[in-house]
Amino acid sequence: MELRVFDTREQMSAAAAEFFAERIKSKPNIVLGLATGGTPVRMYAELVRMHREGKLDFSRVVTFNLDEYVGLSPDHDQSYRYFMDANLFNKVNIRKKNTHLPDGMATDLDAMCAAYEKAIKRAGGIDLQLLGIGGNGHIGFNEPGSPSDSRTRVVDLTPETIRDNSRFFTDESEVPRKAVSMGIATVLEAREIVLIADGDHKALAVARSVEGKITPDVPASFLQEHKKCIFFLDRSAASRLSR
Ligand code: PGA
Repeated sequence: MELRVFDTREQMSAAAAEFFAERIKSKPNIVLGLATGGTPVRMYAELVRMHREGKLDFSRVVTFNLDEYVGLSPDHDQSYRYFMDANLFNKVNIRKKNTHLPDGMATDLDAMCAAYEKAIKRAGGIDLQLLGIGGNGHIGFNEPGSPSDSRTRVVDLTPETIRDNSRFFTDESEVPRKAVSMGIATVLEAREIVLIADGDHKALAVARSVEGKITPDVPASFLQEHKKCIFFLDRSAASRLSR
């Protein structure tokens, strides 16, 4: 695992955006795995800025997001489809048909999950996967206990994740209890992985993922088994690492 540590979260976000921009330029039809949450917002804003300055073309880029809440429609302002449209897709020249998120409204969720895995394969697999990390070490919605061979599936959110994500909702009771998430195996099949994290509240999860033992208790620890995984961190998120 490679670690890149920056003084501020702004610098971390700019560096991660630059990394993605370089990869898009060298492979214009790149298949990206994307993430939602508070952490990627600045990075997406940087990518939008580069696009507006004429430096970045998304016309052939294909994307697959990590996860989506079950039961939220695309026009719900807390659905991840809504987030991606608002923060990135509506602001760049990506083709909407090239953007994929699990459908949290599907009547047959298991069939939708299987179709999502197939669609990733049909696209040639994910070249570069973006990840955030939960305070409990989750990646996507792969909560502690998620096995290394897990694939896209319906998952129950932990009370901690529901609490963490309630800041985006008016009330904790509105946070969906279930989500669809790519699995650990799906994520590890990406050719390259970038995990971004900032803030003290991520420091312990980061340290356990990088330096702890590989265990389903800390889903991000499975990233130690990946050949090309880079953590972009600000100083606070890196503060509990021993190196
Ligand atoms: P955050 O979420 O970026 O909102 O902190 C990250 C995650 O839970 O994966």
